[in-house]
Amino acid sequence: MLKIALSKGRIFKETLPLLAQAGIEPIDDPETSRKLILDTNHDDVKLVIIRATDVPTYVEYGAADVGVAGKDVLLEHGGNGLYEPVDLQIARCRLMVAGPKNAPPLRRRYRIATKYVKTTQSYYAEKGEQVEVIKLYGSMELAPLVGLADRIVDVVDTGNTLRANGLAPLEPIADISSRLIVNKAAMKMKHAQVKSLIQQLQVAVERQKNPIS
Ligand code: ATP
Ligand code: PRP
Repeated sequence: MLKIALSKGRIFKETLPLLAQAGIEPIDDPETSRKLILDTNHDDVKLVIIRATDVPTYVEYGAADVGVAGKDVLLEHGGNGLYEPVDLQIARCRLMVAGPKNAPPLRRRYRIATKYVKTTQSYYAEKGEQVEVIKLYGSMELAPLVGLADRIVDVVDTGNTLRANGLAPLEPIADISSRLIVNKAAMKMKHAQVKSLIQQLQVAVERQKNPIS
C-alpha cells in the first residue's frame, strides 16, 4: 500500500495531472466528497487529504509514505525525516516581506506578523535585525492595516492581495514551488514503488515544461 498525502485546493488540482501521467487517478473528488482517504484506480494506492501545513508531519511520522508540500511549508517544518526528491514546479510563488507602500524604514524593533514563524526568525537573525514575530494562521495582510504589525511575511504570486490592501512587496526571502516529499523509512521499505513514482513524476514534470518533447 502506498499512501500519498495531498492538500485540497491548489496542490490537489495541480498535482492531479502529474499523478495522471504516472497512471494514478482518484476515484472520488475531494472537493465534493467528505472522505479523507480517497481510493484510486490502483487498489494499493490511496490519497490522504490533509491541511497543507500538516502534510510534512504526516509524511515524517510515516502516516503517509509520500506527499506534496510547498517549499514554504517545508522550510518552516525543517524537513526532519523527509527526502525531497522532486521539484514538481507547481503552486509557484515567492515568500516575501511585505508592508505598507512607501513606508519609511522603521527605527524601533519591528513587529512582523506571519504564519512562518521559524523561517521569519532565521531570516532576520541572519540579517542581524531584532524583530518580534507574531504568529497568525491566515489573512496576514490585515495585520499592518489595523496596527497589529509593521510588516508581514507571506507568499506572493500575482501581488493582487497585497495591492488590494495598500501593501507592497519589500524583500524576497525565497522562491517557492511544491515538492514531492518521501518518508525516509518508506524510501527503503517500499523502494520499488516509491522509486517508480519518483521517476514517473520526474518525467511528467519535464513533459509539462516541454510539452512537445
Ligand atoms: P493551510 O490550509 O494549512 O493553512 P494554505 O491555506 O496555505 O494552508 P493553500 O492555499 O492550498 O494552503 O496553499 C498550498 C501551497 O501553495 C502553499 O504552501 C504555497 O506553497 C502555495 N501557494 C500559496 N498561495 C499561493 C498563490 N497565491 N499562488 C501560488 N502558490 C501559492
Ligand atoms: C495566498 C497568500 C496570499 C495570496 C497571494 O492566500 O496567503 O494571501 O495567496 O497571492 P497573490 O499574490 O496572487 O494575491 P490563499 O491561498 O488563501 O489565497 P488564494 O488561493 O486566493 O490565492
